[in-house]
Amino acid sequence: MTQEELFKSLIAHAKEYGFIFPSSEIYDGLSAVYDYGQLGAELKNNIKKYWWDAMVRLNENIVGIDSAIFMHPKIWEASGHVNAFNDPLIDNKDSKKRYRADVLLEDHIAKIEEKIEKEVEKGHKKFGESFDEVQFRATNPNILRNRAKADEVTAKMNEALNANDLEAVKQLIIDCEIVCPISGTRNWTDVRQFNLMFSTQMGSVSEDTNIIYLRPETAQGIFVNFLNVQKTGRMKIPFGIAQIGKAFRNEIVARQFIFRMREFEQMEMQFFVRPGEEMKWYEHWKAARLRWHKALGLGDEKYRFHNHEKLAHYANAAADIEFEFPFGFKELEGIHSRTDFDLSQHQKFSGRKLQYFDPETNESYVPYVIETSIGLDRTFLAVYSSAYCVEKLEDGEERVVLKLPAILAPVKLAVLPLVKKDGLPEMAREIMNDLKYEINCQYDEKDSIGKRYRRQDAIGTPFCITIDHQSLEDKCVTIRYRDSMEQERVPVEKLRSIIEEKISFRKVLENI
Ligand code: GAP
Repeated sequence: MTQEELFKSLIAHAKEYGFIFPSSEIYDGLSAVYDYGQLGAELKNNIKKYWWDAMVRLNENIVGIDSAIFMHPKIWEASGHVNAFNDPLIDNKDSKKRYRADVLLEDHIAKIEEKIEKEVEKGHKKFGESFDEVQFRATNPNILRNRAKADEVTAKMNEALNANDLEAVKQLIIDCEIVCPISGTRNWTDVRQFNLMFSTQMGSVSEDTNIIYLRPETAQGIFVNFLNVQKTGRMKIPFGIAQIGKAFRNEIVARQFIFRMREFEQMEMQFFVRPGEEMKWYEHWKAARLRWHKALGLGDEKYRFHNHEKLAHYANAAADIEFEFPFGFKELEGIHSRTDFDLSQHQKFSGRKLQYFDPETNESYVPYVIETSIGLDRTFLAVYSSAYCVEKLEDGEERVVLKLPAILAPVKLAVLPLVKKDGLPEMAREIMNDLKYEINCQYDEKDSIGKRYRRQDAIGTPFCITIDHQSLEDKCVTIRYRDSMEQERVPVEKLRSIIEEKISFRKVLENI
């Protein structure tokens, strides 16, 4: 299966088993909006818990809040979102389709990169064992020509975008002879900036109406509550405020399933520090966040840092933690040193002081901020895509299995009576009723035991227990492990400790 085919089957699987549905599906869906089904909601809640506990429970100096989605419209002026939260867009006059100009160019560059990789593949086939890939890449004329082309377009694109030179962006699209994928023509409009915030109106009487925005990030809800939390929580710098919540962006290029959505969830933490100490804390949080990711066990090689060379006007350092999704390495989390920009802007726009009196230095100042910002849905996709696999078994059969980290699995234990009679269902229910307070269990008595195991594999249940006739006598059950498919006979009274040991958040959190 190619990566693309695997990704498609993963999306189909997510729908088939109740993890993720397209929103409003009976009305043919709503682009780039998704609903989480019964198992998706459980998995998402487990990810939230893993993040919240790591941030709020384990750090005495971090507290969590839940601010409103609607906020005063001036907040978005102060933060710079009204003026600068834009994407450069271009329309094709024939198809009337709208595109992100930078994405058209990035796709063009990706096609050139693909040609390079195809050439390398050809080399592999031609020279077999003796193939020297490094030498081939450095000398093959087709590769060198395409490499130069890709680098030139990338450099010109970055220059034009950084200078906000929209004419140059359009000219580059024309020079690259990029055509609209729908109409096949090069009949383009000018490039315009398009604000990504959704707006609506508040108030029922027209004179009272006020344009308000659906927040495009949760961070501003933290900034404007900085003093409320600091005072009521008697917080001393350095301290952090964490929050999980919805954010909304009118993404024009919304694709790659839940990677880029119009309504999504963020898990953000703003860490307030003394001016001048921000680089120390920036490095601290970069390392801490990477440890958090790696402790999940998806594979250390799947993560890498991407340090930003061009910084936003308010940042003095920024890096992304990228994850290897099925479509390549992409941003999963951002760690930004945001200086005192946001608090200073809110001071200016609100007219209220947002300063901290530092009892150690006897000074008042606007704190500097280190932000960690991770997409919940992207984390879901990272976890789901690394867990999903189609395995060939020894008997030639295939099984689809979600090898989810046990702490995140939506169902931890499947309780399966071998047959629907002879008192086995009753014993199974009794076990489940005892365990269900701590362990999310699912009862299933339909179909053969083999089919039931497959169903549980497909939703990532790490443990199944089977209750058979002998269980009535010896009070033992067969426990089956999802990944190894090994089975062993264990006393019912030991089940709780066997399972809890493996699904313990504590064990994972101790490793970060
Ligand atoms: N407060 C900083 C901030 O919002 P960002 O890089 O724009 O920074 C942070 O977003 C994270 O939110 C990203 O790393 C990504 O995981 C997630 N994210 C951003 N836009 C998204 C979208 N359209 N769909 C899903 N997740 C998104």
